[in-house]
Amino acid sequence: MKEKVRELIEKLAAEHSLTVSEYQTLIEERTDEAAELMAAEAVAVRKRIYGTDVYIRGLIEISNICKNDCYYCGIRRSNREVRRYRLTPEEILESAAAGSELGFRTIVLQGGEDPYFTDEVLAGLIGEIRKHCPDTAVTLSMGERGYASFKRLFDAGADRYLLRHETADEEHYGKLHPPEMSFEHRMKCLQELRGIGYQTGAGFMVGSPFQTTAHLAKDLKFIETFKPDMCGIGPFIPHHQTPFADREAGTLELTCYLLSVIRLIHPPVLLPATTALGTIDPAGREKGILAGANVVMPNLSPVGVRRQYELYDGKICTGEESAECLVCLKNRMRSIGYRIVEERGDIKNGCL
Ligand code: SAM
Ligand code: FES
Repeated sequence: MKEKVRELIEKLAAEHSLTVSEYQTLIEERTDEAAELMAAEAVAVRKRIYGTDVYIRGLIEISNICKNDCYYCGIRRSNREVRRYRLTPEEILESAAAGSELGFRTIVLQGGEDPYFTDEVLAGLIGEIRKHCPDTAVTLSMGERGYASFKRLFDAGADRYLLRHETADEEHYGKLHPPEMSFEHRMKCLQELRGIGYQTGAGFMVGSPFQTTAHLAKDLKFIETFKPDMCGIGPFIPHHQTPFADREAGTLELTCYLLSVIRLIHPPVLLPATTALGTIDPAGREKGILAGANVVMPNLSPVGVRRQYELYDGKICTGEESAECLVCLKNRMRSIGYRIVEERGDIKNGCL
């Protein structure tokens, strides 16, 4: 490994900050040896804060109806081949109750930007979940909304909001999204969520079309300055009915390297080993945890609709029952010396 890269890794571990051009060097000049050192540092930090605990989030994919048309996404509105579905409030509450029974202490409601899910509908669902499962955190991942909407849902009891920034470079953002979507609005939403008091999640895809190492370096600087409570990163994987059908997927190797870097930038961050990582490699989620991640997000959606929430080709866990996924993940984590815990899994700020 180049001396320069070793120095940067040591500096990052000590100071949790680098310049944008240093981040770029860290990415461009990485070697297997550098990745090993980065992962060892990241795992040491993660173990100091979270031990070998892995937090679980029960993901309920409440609707694949979306008014947006992001070029990368399999459920974009222009994809006429998708069979659209929307879970009923009863189905959502049943899935949440089943999750709670299985030991989940965080429920994530995720979906396309489906106009059916007004503030009133969502606030009602959040209230019901909080009433029946008072020790369970509610995370929303419902896309961009207005300030008043975010505030109302927070007041209804939502604790966290996941909204990946997708890329910290405005021009790159424009190549991934149609003109009616804006980088500025995405970033504004993130600031508002943080201001309201949500534990806020940002994130990006690794290897998305047109992405350069300079873009990734900007993403890392954004993580360093915004310090999201959660950071969702996973490889871009093409979907055959999108404009990016013929693009290459992101790699396991770079995703794991960036997981380690992000752990060192913001030590307490809640960092999932994503389903997309498990899709590009059968042991992807284990490898993500071994790179410094500390969260996994098994699917709690009813099995009948899972195949329809196809963001990218080949998505795993679409045939398994929730209980099976949980047992599978418990075994996977145990096999690498980690353990799934039945806790809310809030961020442990101030632990370092
Ligand atoms: N509508 C909500 C939103 O926009 O945040 C939540 C659902 S959205 C489908 C969740 C995330 O899936 C996106 O933020 C994006 O990063 C990821 N995603 C979409 N298409 C993908 C693909 N082809 N490969 C990997 N990840 C993808
Ligand atoms: Fe779903 Fe393994 S986590 S089958």
